[in-house]
Amino acid sequence: MEKEIRILKLRNKIQGQVRSEIEKDQKEYILKEQLKAIQKELGGDSENPEAEELKERILKKKLPDQVRKAADEELDRLTRMHPGIPEVAVIRNYIEWILSLPWMESTKDKLAIARARSVLEKDHYDLKDVKERMLEFLAIRKLNPQGKAPILCFVGPPGVGKTSMGKSIARSLGRKFVRLSLGGVHDEAEIRGHRRTYIGAMPGKIIQGLKEAGSNNPVFMLDEVDKIGSDFRGDPTSALLEVLDPEQNYSFRDNYMNVPFDLSSVQFITTANRLDTIPSPLKDRMEIIRIPGYTADEKLEIARRYLVRRQMTNAGLTGKILRFRKSGIRQIISCYTREAGVRELERTIGKICRKTAMRLAEGIDDLVIVSPSRLHEFLGPKKFTRERIGDKPCIGVATRLAWTPAGGEVLLIETIIMEGKGELLLTGQLGEVMKESARAALSWIRTHSIEYGINLNFEKVNIHLHVPAGATPKDGPSAGVAITISMLSALTRKPVVPDMAVTGEISLQGKVMPVGGIKEKILGALAAGISKVFIPEENGRNLDEIPENIRRIMKFELVKNVQDAIPSFIPGLKEVHR
Ligand SMILES: Nc1ncnc2c1ncn2[C@@H]1O[C@H](COP(=O)(O)OP(=O)(O)OP(=O)(O)O)[C@@H](O)[C@H]1O
Ligand SMILES: [Mg+2]
Repeated sequence: MEKEIRILKLRNKIQGQVRSEIEKDQKEYILKEQLKAIQKELGGDSENPEAEELKERILKKKLPDQVRKAADEELDRLTRMHPGIPEVAVIRNYIEWILSLPWMESTKDKLAIARARSVLEKDHYDLKDVKERMLEFLAIRKLNPQGKAPILCFVGPPGVGKTSMGKSIARSLGRKFVRLSLGGVHDEAEIRGHRRTYIGAMPGKIIQGLKEAGSNNPVFMLDEVDKIGSDFRGDPTSALLEVLDPEQNYSFRDNYMNVPFDLSSVQFITTANRLDTIPSPLKDRMEIIRIPGYTADEKLEIARRYLVRRQMTNAGLTGKILRFRKSGIRQIISCYTREAGVRELERTIGKICRKTAMRLAEGIDDLVIVSPSRLHEFLGPKKFTRERIGDKPCIGVATRLAWTPAGGEVLLIETIIMEGKGELLLTGQLGEVMKESARAALSWIRTHSIEYGINLNFEKVNIHLHVPAGATPKDGPSAGVAITISMLSALTRKPVVPDMAVTGEISLQGKVMPVGGIKEKILGALAAGISKVFIPEENGRNLDEIPENIRRIMKFELVKNVQDAIPSFIPGLKEVHR
């Protein structure tokens, strides 16, 4: 009996709960229906007056079928909703995004080659590769309007005109221009958007850029692809992979929009300072065009044709008040700036313009002619003097050419030998690869020590190799030959010829292997007053990129084996050796 009573009690309790649940639902349903009826009485037929307006706009807008369907569905949901609830704002926002995107709107390309060429020439000096590539693209567009646009990647040091070239390309094609800086973008959602279920969700930067452009075929510049980051928030590169693939970007799906957008008519241009940090699947999708930096002569031309005029206009000056002599600009380039691009140069010219404007404001209105002798007055003492890398031959000091994202540079490598226990000390914040180069170089020297007359017990000495400017990290294999020369000189106590430099990786067989960034390195060597440069034989073809006038001033020698370079660098050694 006890048991039966307990079962009955439980059953009663459950039934009671179910009944009250049902009653609550019913109550809500009845109330909602009543509310609807009241609304109908108040506001005519439509339950949500906003919906009417949106409906009209959707009808008028040109949309692809799939998008129209999505828009209609959302509109339908909106119509059935009470205007007060938060969900309504979310849906309305979404429909507004659909309405604001250029799904089918495009600008007409200006395909006249002559016009495009003149626009490109007008905006930038030199940069022949880039200009030629764009004109080829135009020519192909003419023959095959449906052709896929190549994805270009401009790689070069800062201030060589990568970003501004993108703008100029848009102008020459008659397209809209949008720029998205990828520097510091960590989150995939920044590219591809957040799902609409998140509070405050928005489309990604690609869709935002297209909205800004207002056409579906702008020139879209993805600036600084090499500085994209990835961490726990996801990897933006994977989103970019889809955007930048002509085979699949005709249906790019933003997480927020959730309907495909056709990106295939967009001309994407990316820019980077260095290639090695760009993930290789991304690199693979792009056509890489290098912009290696300018020689002093090229900078002079750029300054004369563009920078001076621009800065003078900015400062409101005319040729009656300020004139720049060629020799003056030359001196600014060599003594007040050190860069691969022209930004600092432009800033310095701007500074002179400002100072002149100041004089004018103070009532001094005689003509200012900027010549080398007046620079001190405007810019203060010279910032850089043409530094020669040690005038005297030194023992154990070799000069190497280095590549940095900011252009080419000349670095010294020093070696000293001291009593010790056969250790190789490496300092100067060298990276793993460079340390390995040093070990390879030492092994090579040890196996050839008899040839070079080194009779030394390697177990009883320490060899210390240091690369000055110790605070900046250095890496890469391209110092191999220079390290060998520096060590050999220290070990044989024969000095190295000072104004020559070398770049090249070394193998254990003593072969000199090719390296990158030859043009940048040579420009750097020129600025540092190096007169002869040794480069790997296989890099010989890179010499074609070097302007004629530099080839006249500087000597180049191609080397295949490290043995070939040693007699030139350490002339004293030849006698011992032979
Ligand atoms: N060949 C050139 N002719 C005319 N002006 C140039 C040339 N190269 C660069 N400039 C000028 O130099 C300035 C800097 O160029 P820009 O901003 O495009 O550099 P960037 O290559 O994008 O550098 P970063 O890698 O730092 O972004 C611009 O004002 C540009 O007009
Ligand atoms: Mg830039």
